[in-house]
Amino acid sequence: MIDPFGRTVSYLRVSVTDRCDFRCTYCMAENMTFLPKKDLLTLEEMNRLCSAFISKGVRKIRLTGGEPLVRKNIMFLVRELGRHVHSGALDELTVTTNGSQLARYADELYDCGVRRINVSLDTLDPAKFKAITRWGDFSKVMEGIDAAQKAGLKIKLNAVALKDLNAAEIPEMIRFAHGRGMDLTVIETMPMGEIEEDRTDHYLPLSELRADLESEFTLADIPYKTGGPARYVEVKETGGRLGFITPMTHNFCESCNRVRLTCTGTLYMCLGQNDAADLRTALRASESDEYLYAAIDEAISRKPKGHDFIIDRQHRKPAVARHMSVTGG
Ligand code: GTP
Ligand code: 5AD
Ligand code: SF4
Repeated sequence: MIDPFGRTVSYLRVSVTDRCDFRCTYCMAENMTFLPKKDLLTLEEMNRLCSAFISKGVRKIRLTGGEPLVRKNIMFLVRELGRHVHSGALDELTVTTNGSQLARYADELYDCGVRRINVSLDTLDPAKFKAITRWGDFSKVMEGIDAAQKAGLKIKLNAVALKDLNAAEIPEMIRFAHGRGMDLTVIETMPMGEIEEDRTDHYLPLSELRADLESEFTLADIPYKTGGPARYVEVKETGGRLGFITPMTHNFCESCNRVRLTCTGTLYMCLGQNDAADLRTALRASESDEYLYAAIDEAISRKPKGHDFIIDRQHRKPAVARHMSVTGG
């Protein structure tokens, strides 16, 4: 699949539910309206959609949410998709999770062909963790990380960089992650979805964070690539990798290789735009995949050049009304 800007689309991010057992303050409002349950695709339908994308050239699938591991019977989909890893049709099947259910699922994920997962963790301080996630239990996430490592899963930790909340803690998070053989990526907060607070209060450009880190660590750019948007450095003092995801200050849209499917069968061609394609209708129109392939081709032909997120005091409203949890980032 090649879009109008010559970019090959080979990475499908699938949000299997927009619900989550946490309420991270920068991501969700405490009282959220979720997509109506009646509009959800079944896991069988999601599997069929994913298989159609694989036939069209997708090589990497990431399950996201909300929190993907709270979807009932989610391991059915993971197991089905795992078959494509075993057959060589997929290079990678992976998951982005908040870690709350990992202790329960780690072994099964590995067994299904998952080798690497991303765990969202913004702080190592249990009190701050509670303040950021509102509903989260820090000890459960730590148990989940332990279980995942024991199961043989490689882990990347994701931390959204939040001024006054976790910025001062990033050096400790680097030591923690690298001490346990995990990568860490830091992420600039994106203006998606109404929340109680103003994101500009906590927004931290990663160029500032990097400059601060350089007073303590030696950071060397490295060409490490995962197919995701992070740019990596090696931290000389720890020997570990640190990634920077900078949609706001240094966007990476020119090399975008991904599209996003929601749990209702809507395909977003860009995280930061509203244009979307309805794949559910095409999916349900016929048992044959012909309509689906045509709908996917048509959607890819509309993939925009990139997002136009901005964070400044003049733009207090989120650039995109949809919450991040609808597309799982
Ligand atoms: P790797 O395979 O480990 O590289 O993962 P990834 O970075 O692709 O996925 P992950 O789910 O860990 O996403 C980390 C952050 O990157 C999230 O906050 C996403 O919203 C953000 N992100 C991923 N892809 C895009 C993108 O195309 N555009 C923007 N603006 N942000 C993205
Ligand atoms: N900006 C940047 N990242 C966000 N995430 C959730 N909301 C936002 C936002 N507004 C992150 C989560 C998770 C990843 C999938 O997206 O913390 O790590
Ligand atoms: Fe849930 Fe992730 Fe959003 Fe936190 S950031 S509320 S864990 S979807």
